[in-house]
Amino acid sequence: MKTVKIALLGFGTVAQGTFNLLQDNANLIENRSGVTIEISKIFVRNPEKYSHITLPSTAKYVTNIDDIVNDESIDIVVELMGGTTFAKDCVESALKHGKSVVTANKDLLAEAGPYLFDLAYKNKVDLRFEASVLGGIPIIRTLYESLGGNHITELVGIMNGTTNFILSKMTEEGLSYGAVLKEAQDLGYAEADPTADVEGLDAARKLAILASISFNRRIFFEDVTVEGITNIDTEDISYGKEFGYNIKLIGIAKETSKGLSLNVYPAFVPLTHPLASVRGSYNAIYIKGNGIDDAMFYGRGAGSLPTGSSVVSDIMEVAKNIAFESTGRFKPFYFDQKNIYSPGK
Ligand code: NDP
Ligand code: HSE
Repeated sequence: MKTVKIALLGFGTVAQGTFNLLQDNANLIENRSGVTIEISKIFVRNPEKYSHITLPSTAKYVTNIDDIVNDESIDIVVELMGGTTFAKDCVESALKHGKSVVTANKDLLAEAGPYLFDLAYKNKVDLRFEASVLGGIPIIRTLYESLGGNHITELVGIMNGTTNFILSKMTEEGLSYGAVLKEAQDLGYAEADPTADVEGLDAARKLAILASISFNRRIFFEDVTVEGITNIDTEDISYGKEFGYNIKLIGIAKETSKGLSLNVYPAFVPLTHPLASVRGSYNAIYIKGNGIDDAMFYGRGAGSLPTGSSVVSDIMEVAKNIAFESTGRFKPFYFDQKNIYSPGK
């Protein structure tokens, strides 16, 4: 059986979830993919910080990124650091060195997606990003593969785990916004800077990626009208409850006669609607298509193992491509510069 060597960049919440699944489910992953996936190097700033974690004998920490990009034995670089500056340099360098990349970094895709996908395509390697949207819910490949034959007309969902966790706790336990935000950070749901979560920017980035796939054109985060949850107080929540509504941060993309409507905002969702009962860090997305009619996907939108699950699925797909010498690399057309959405057109 072919062995595919991978390197992890970063060893935080998502990277450790990925590491744990690769370790705990190694036999199953090998049986299903037909490939042995070996963690070879883990790039960190300070290995001391992770000294409590036992690495397999094949793996070691490195503190210089060149030790990974210049290592010809490494096939896949798994970027799980976040951010758009250093992460972009690393992904760019890995692709240029002929390595496939798996990332959970939606900010990076929002900023440099078209360039990086072009680079991956030119270098005949993969760039995969299932974990970048809706954590553990397998939605990216579902949209472009399983639902690929549908004309999609609408998608609506809860796309941010941190804000759903905060709103759920405020609704169910009457807690204040500030107290719950701290808990969401401690649980590893929030971004390093939680502003993107609570201001709705994270949900807007995810909506832009999902809408790009669903509506066959490159939709930018700037195309989405955004309002976050920072102005929601316990009074708004009680008011909603009194009249049979839960407040949820909703992302919605819809075809209208005037073009696409793309919005993220806190909405009063009737308790009878399935999205009203999506609690805690869970996400859900409801999709309308001319084949399926409608479908709903529900699961953990953030957290170590759920997000790690999506990262591992990408690693397995890429490892299979490498092991079985697949020549057709996926180049998402919606990341093509030529295919940009103009509002109003
Ligand atoms: P964490 O903050 O938990 O972990 C980030 C890791 O990357 C840490 O090990 C950190 O090291 C390391 N790192 C960051 N910057 C650098 C750098 N410049 N050089 C070297 N190492 C660096 O983040 P998460 O695991 O939560 O998130 C990682 C990515 O996954 C982000 O893009 C995020 O948006 C995405 N994501 C996260 C989800 C979640 O539920 N947490 C869900 C879906 C996507 P150090 O300890 O030294 O700071
Ligand atoms: N901060 C994000 C969230 C992580 O809360 O949904 C998952 O992308």
